[in-house]
Amino acid sequence: MQVVETVDELRRARAALRTRRIGLAPTMGALHAGHMSLVEAARAENRFVIATIFVNPTQFEPGTDLNQYPRDLPRDLAILEAAGCDLVFTPTPEVVYPRGFQTTVTVSEVSQVLEGARRPGHFQGVATVVAKYFNLTQPKTAYFGQKDAQQVVVIRRMVRDLNMPLKIAVCPTVREPDGLAMSSRNVYLNPRQREQSAVLYRALQKAARAYEAGERNPNRLRRIARDVLEAYDGIAPEYVSLAHPRTLQELNNPTDAPMLLSLAARMGTTRLIDNVLLPPHLNTREGLTATLGV
Ligand code: PAJ
Repeated sequence: MQVVETVDELRRARAALRTRRIGLAPTMGALHAGHMSLVEAARAENRFVIATIFVNPTQFEPGTDLNQYPRDLPRDLAILEAAGCDLVFTPTPEVVYPRGFQTTVTVSEVSQVLEGARRPGHFQGVATVVAKYFNLTQPKTAYFGQKDAQQVVVIRRMVRDLNMPLKIAVCPTVREPDGLAMSSRNVYLNPRQREQSAVLYRALQKAARAYEAGERNPNRLRRIARDVLEAYDGIAPEYVSLAHPRTLQELNNPTDAPMLLSLAARMGTTRLIDNVLLPPHLNTREGLTATLGV
């Protein structure tokens, strides 16, 4: 496995490749089984696998957890090597944003709701850095996780709008045994919060069960999930959304068409997110890839 830190080294490594079947898995490191599901899918479907590890400062709003964000590069590299990754890009902020940097990618409408409404600038930071990764590595397929469903919708809109020549594959959320979606931020939870945090997924599941029993009313489905969260003192729900999986606009009328049920909640200072597609059978690699975004 080759590890490169500069744009020149990455370009040289890319130019030397004799295959177009390149899979890319962008990450911010602190790797867990969720990240590795992307690398494994890339490994299974491509001749060459590239991962990135970069805690991208422009997607953190000022005063949030940029400096506390967990970092362990030696561990991450060992995990990627064992998974059969071929090349890792581990740039510094100066490499990604050299002096004079002034270009950004803004995906307007789908960035403004949900996470975007609570994290101003977040998706502009994400779209800009991901556009750079796509330009530098020119993959055939880039792999993203359902965990960040809105990120998938934003990236796909960018790829479509800017005619970027690659496919976006979506891998299902990998969970802890109790249902908590794996996240690098879960280490911020104290033992009591960690125990309660499984309620996010239980809230989604309760609404999914109601859906399967025939409930289609968006207000009632949102209410079912919200009631589960609100039963816990240590959890402050930020939003419970039932939205169109391509436009992310809130749904008001009952429908049998696919819907994205997503939520965000605070436990102390830690912010957690989770989501499921309805109907629940869509929460597979194929269902997600066909349903989320354009
Ligand atoms: P990061 O949070 O490190 O996540 C990297 C990728 O792993 C994302 O596509 C994310 O959706 C996926 N992922 C995280 N947890 C997951 C889980 N439990 N199951 C499945 N997939 C999971 O997302 C980012 O980094 C950044 O925004 C990035 C795209 C790298 C741009 O900086």
